[in-house]
Amino acid sequence: MEPWLRLVGGATGGALLAATGLYVYWDYYYFNPESVRGATVVITGCSTGIGEEMAYQYARLGAKILITARRENRLKEVVAKAKSLGAQEAHYVAGDMGKAEDCERTIQTAKEKFGRLDYLVLNHAGSSFGPISEKPVQTWDQDLDMDFYADFLNINLISYVRLASLALPLLKESSGHIVVMGSLGGKITFPYFSYMTTAKFGLDGFFGALRVELMKTKQDVSISYVVPGFIRTAGAEEMVKKLPGGEKMLETAAPVKETAYTIIRGGATRTREIYVPSYTWVISRIRMFPGWLQDYLILNVFSP
Ligand SMILES: NC(=O)c1ccc[n+]([C@@H]2O[C@H](COP(=O)([O-])OP(=O)(O)OC[C@H]3O[C@@H](n4cnc5c(N)ncnc54)[C@H](OP(=O)(O)O)[C@@H]3O)[C@@H](O)[C@H]2O)c1
Repeated sequence: MEPWLRLVGGATGGALLAATGLYVYWDYYYFNPESVRGATVVITGCSTGIGEEMAYQYARLGAKILITARRENRLKEVVAKAKSLGAQEAHYVAGDMGKAEDCERTIQTAKEKFGRLDYLVLNHAGSSFGPISEKPVQTWDQDLDMDFYADFLNINLISYVRLASLALPLLKESSGHIVVMGSLGGKITFPYFSYMTTAKFGLDGFFGALRVELMKTKQDVSISYVVPGFIRTAGAEEMVKKLPGGEKMLETAAPVKETAYTIIRGGATRTREIYVPSYTWVISRIRMFPGWLQDYLILNVFSP
């Protein structure tokens, strides 16, 4: 290899290592778990998966939580467990976040129960057409289902915007924080999940713009965009098993407990983007590469 190329490669590698080190240092050492005690938190999508685990971890830290999902029986169980784990308060709203009135009811209930809001954690994911894990793995071209697509965007993109808009007055009063569950698929594009990619890129776009608007108007509400890789929840596991080479991918899945903790810590330290597991930061960087190299890597290395 040419000496100048080695020099450039070394410098780039060094800069990336230093940036990663700084990020890890900031993320780990600036988190004071006591800062979450007594904090008021709304978390969506808590009947299962990462949302359920976040509810338990906020509870252990002594937060006051209000959780949502459609399945009321599951929410009752999660609330009971959260109380036993130490939540100062635990409430639920059973509702469909695809419906404007249920989003309104959620934020109104938070106002009535807590009188203030410190964290809005937007996490739910789903469709009115049944579990996403049951959807056949097909390219968009094989499955041009506009009804599914519009419903998916309503639940997974528009409702996030709606909930954040409804909560903003409360968040402004308490210098609060919004945590948005994005995806690695909201940073780079994978095949088979164009509907998910649209929602997650849209969330990054909307909340990125909102973040700078809040800064421009000097309002103390901050926003974290979470970039999860493959996290071992029941739904994600079912979906991945259907992909070519899916069984192998399962070995790389990150545990839900660590993921939930990383997100709560990142939210409390007001981290702009939360990469979990941290390899998602490295993979997201391929957007900086020339298009032909991005395409090559996505088609031959990162996609199923
Ligand atoms: N797991 C992963 O590998 C992974 C990777 C990247 C990003 N993420 C993101 O991380 C978040 C959590 O993922 P997860 O795997 O924990 O999801 P999950 O296990 O499928 O849980 C989704 C939650 O959303 C709720 N939900 C679905 N549709 C809803 C609706 N219309 N209204 C209200 N609640 C609804 C579900 O409850 P009900 O059915 O009871 O309503 C459930 O509690 C999602 O935003 C997902 O996109 C996950």
